[in-house]
Amino acid sequence: MAVEVYLSQEKIKTRVKEVAEQINKDFSGKELHIIGVLNGAFMFTADLVRHLDVPVTLEFMSASSYGDGTTSSGKLTINLDIKKDIKDKHVLVIEDIVDTGLTLSVLKKNLLERSPASLKLASFLYKPARLEHPVDIDYLCFEIEDHFVIGYGLDYAGRYRELPYVGIYCED
Ligand code: IMP
Repeated sequence: MAVEVYLSQEKIKTRVKEVAEQINKDFSGKELHIIGVLNGAFMFTADLVRHLDVPVTLEFMSASSYGDGTTSSGKLTINLDIKKDIKDKHVLVIEDIVDTGLTLSVLKKNLLERSPASLKLASFLYKPARLEHPVDIDYLCFEIEDHFVIGYGLDYAGRYRELPYVGIYCED
């Protein structure tokens, strides 16, 4: 297998810092509860929070979604839930990639039922070519073409999450 570098470590570093600066501006004077979505968002979450200067609390959540293929509704199975009561809190959900958009749209609906003061979504990557379930991404690092990508938290069959860059997976 070969990996073609798609987003370099340097490019990622610069962009993550820019996005964090935007979050600092938008949440100035407020406290933020961050929910990183496992497993893919662990690296983006860890890098992003290092640049935040607003007070944060942080938890991880793990969920799988199953669509019925025809509507934008889907069933969400929560494998690991947050412990914090987010009622009246400002919440930022951090995802690795919005592909069909199903996971984030169903997760958003679930979290909104818990009555947060506000709920914003951050995604490291977004693949518009594959979108089926529109979801507003408030903070996005990169829009990408329709490639299966790995690295920087993203896996192929559980592997390659540790790569510090994003690569295109090519079987040879
Ligand atoms: P969704 O289709 O937007 O619900 O995306 C579901 C999940 O699929 C994402 O959170 C990723 O974990 C995974 N995924 C989608 N596209 C890719 C990719 O190109 N590489 C690795 N994982 C992906």
